[in-house]
Amino acid sequence: MKTLILFSTRDGQTREIAAFIASELKEQGIYSDVVNLNRTEDIDWTLYDRVVIGASIRYGHYHPALERFIKKHLHALEALPGAFFSVNLVARKAEKRTPQTNSYTRKFLLSTPWQPTLCAVFAGALRYPHYRWYDRMMIRLIMKMTGGETDTRKEVVYTDWNQAAVFAREIAQLTDNAPLK
Ligand SMILES: Cc1cc2nc3c(=O)[nH]c(=O)nc-3n(C[C@H](O)[C@H](O)[C@H](O)COP(=O)(O)O)c2cc1C
Repeated sequence: MKTLILFSTRDGQTREIAAFIASELKEQGIYSDVVNLNRTEDIDWTLYDRVVIGASIRYGHYHPALERFIKKHLHALEALPGAFFSVNLVARKAEKRTPQTNSYTRKFLLSTPWQPTLCAVFAGALRYPHYRWYDRMMIRLIMKMTGGETDTRKEVVYTDWNQAAVFAREIAQLTDNAPLK
């Protein structure tokens, strides 16, 4: 049995975190499939004994595909022990990096019919040179208002990889603690 790690990304950081978690799990002898949630149609759920979903925030929202995916696959998701992780830049501040203190994550958990056993919030990446002009200006404005990096030549990865490694270890334990369905 394998772990299914699904990600929803715009600029690649959530995919990087998903791949990192997969490599950490592999070190513990747990194999994963890392799959783009936006590009998956048919999933053979019988292959998996746990599921992880990661999604990033853009202009205050997860990609609409996240909600669609959860609705479509709710039955399968509920049958497996699950973990969710959110990726955003508000979480670059440590006090906004828990499911309770990160408003995107708190709202998601309150509104989604899927109730993952584990949840984490990761700080994402700021990659000014990759953004379109409008996005670059908007992000710069937000960074200015919130005391962040405003140099548009810069790329900053705020993700705490130790935190991601700890989360991967928790995911590795998931099956043992999973409630019987
Ligand atoms: C156009 C744009 C809008 C964003 N909006 C938000 C936002 O509203 N709140 C936030 O915390 N982070 C925001 N971010 C930061 C992203 O969540 C962060 O860059 C994350 O690493 C993106 O992950 P991804 O590369 O997997 O899509 C935004 C980034 C971009 C480029």
